This record gives sequence, C-alpha cells and structure tokens, in this order.
Amino acid sequence: MVATHYAFAGRHAVVTGGAAGIGLAIAHRLAQGGASLTLWDRDERALLEAKTAFAGLSPTTIALDVSNAIEVDAGIEKTRKEGGEVDILVTSAGITGINAPVCDYPVEEWDRVMAINLRGVFLCCKAVVPHMQHKGYGRIVNVASIAGKEGNPNASAYSASKAGVIALTKSLGKELALSGVTVNCVTPAAVQTGMFAQMTQQHIDYMLSKIPMNRFGQADEIAALVAWLASDDCSFSTGAVFDASGGRATY
Ligand SMILES: NC(=O)c1ccc[n+]([C@@H]2O[C@H](COP(=O)([O-])OP(=O)(O)OC[C@H]3O[C@@H](n4cnc5c(N)ncnc54)[C@H](O)[C@@H]3O)[C@@H](O)[C@H]2O)c1
Repeated sequence: MVATHYAFAGRHAVVTGGAAGIGLAIAHRLAQGGASLTLWDRDERALLEAKTAFAGLSPTTIALDVSNAIEVDAGIEKTRKEGGEVDILVTSAGITGINAPVCDYPVEEWDRVMAINLRGVFLCCKAVVPHMQHKGYGRIVNVASIAGKEGNPNASAYSASKAGVIALTKSLGKELALSGVTVNCVTPAAVQTGMFAQMTQQHIDYMLSKIPMNRFGQADEIAALVAWLASDDCSFSTGAVFDASGGRATY
C-alpha cells in the first residue's frame, strides 16, 4: 500500500522529543510531506543519529531541555534564525517517571515529571505562539496520553501531567480560535518505544490488557494522526483531543 502524505512544502516544523520514538516518526511523516524540520531534544547523541536518517534532507537539530525556560527561549530564537518562522509545533518530549503508588511517590520525581511533561509543553507553546499569531497561521499538536484521560494506577505523576497537557490544549485552542493557529492534542495508548525501558513490566502488561485491539500502537500510527492535525486539512478542529488507543478510549 502506498502511504498518502499531507502537503507540507514551505512549512517549517519544530518537533520536540524529535530524536526518538513517536517524535522521530512524526518528524519523518512531516518530512515526507515536504516540511523543513528543526528537532529539539535533550539527547545530543540521539539527535545526531536521527539527523542522518532523513534521506535527502538534513534537519536542524537543537539540544535543549524543554523544561528550562532559558533554553527554550534561546531555542526558538536559534530556530527562527536558522530555519525561518515556525508553522508547526509538535510537542513530543516526555518521560514516564517511575511507577509507584501515590503514597510512595517521591516528591522530586513528581516535580521532574511535571516539569518535563507539562511545564515543557507550556514553555514551548508560549515560545512559538506570538510568532504564529503574528503570521496568522500555525498548527500546534501536543502529544498527551490516554493516561491523562483515564489515570493509570502507579503512574499518577505521568497521568496528571498528561491531563494537564489536555487542559492546556483546550485553553490555548480557545484563546487562539480566531488567530489562524489551531491547537490540538493526541492521546495515544501504549506504543513500544524507548520509553518502555522507564516502566515496570507489570505496568506495561497492565496497559496492554486495557487495549481492546490487544496490541501496542506503532509510532507511525500516531504520526499519521499527528500529520493530519498538523496539516492545512485540519481547519475546523481546535482545542480538541484525538484518540489513538486501539479502542481503549470511547470518549
Ligand atoms: N510510548 C508510549 O507508550 C506513549 C503513549 C502515550 C503517550 N506517549 C507520549 O509520547 C511522547 C513521546 O514518547 P516516546 O514513546 O516517543 O518516548 P521516547 O523516550 O522514545 O522519546 C522521548 C524523547 O523525548 C526526549 N526528551 C525527554 N525529556 C526531554 C527534555 N526535558 N527536553 C527535551 N527532550 C526530552 C528524549 O530524549 C527522547 O528523545 C511523550 O510525551 C510520551 O509521554 C508515549
């Protein structure tokens, strides 16, 4: 089957967490549609590897921590200088944090998960939005999680951070509804990526047991949905939450 791709020629996309997993799959989808890319990730080695994997195109890569406001502000300036104005922002950088019940959850670990998963998305959106508003065009797609809708046991920080991303998406979508900038999020169920190394096997088994299709998602399946949300074709949806959970979410 030949995959169809949305047209991104002339569009410049920033993908956070773009060096690996779902973010990298999204970056490939956007590149296949003709987008120019800037990948933001804190893992310099993974960025270097990712950069070489794009046939006929060399994305700009910037090593930064999305939870650090100074680094994000410097990142957006460098991105605009080197790649031009940003048309598309996909926020995929994230971590799971440890698996533990709420009562045993270390406070520092809670703060770390919140800082990367929620504050990071806030900072990245805050950095690009004024430029998108000025241009009168933008597509923002935040990668949340089914955990943010359902609340997974032993993953309270992760679930709460992703619920926060969903609410942030709804707020920002409404704020920008008249601006030409759309803001949506996706809520995938478990996708087998490097992130699995951060979770217990028990937690991975729990997540699989909740998926009616009885399989994990593929990064490219999430990328296909994100590509539509990042495209011109997605013009009447904003502040919305899009499911990719093999049937787990029915709302
Ligand atoms: N894999 C899953 O099962 C799953 C399910 C639902 C949602 N998600 C979400 O999808 C997104 C991508 O996850 P993935 O599965 O591709 O994981 P991954 O670990 O393969 O990729 C995450 C990327 O984010 C980067 N990153 C982490 N912290 C960062 C920081 N502070 N600053 C910059 N970059 C940072 C990592 O270096 C890595 O390259 C995450 O937001 C995750 O919560 C994943």
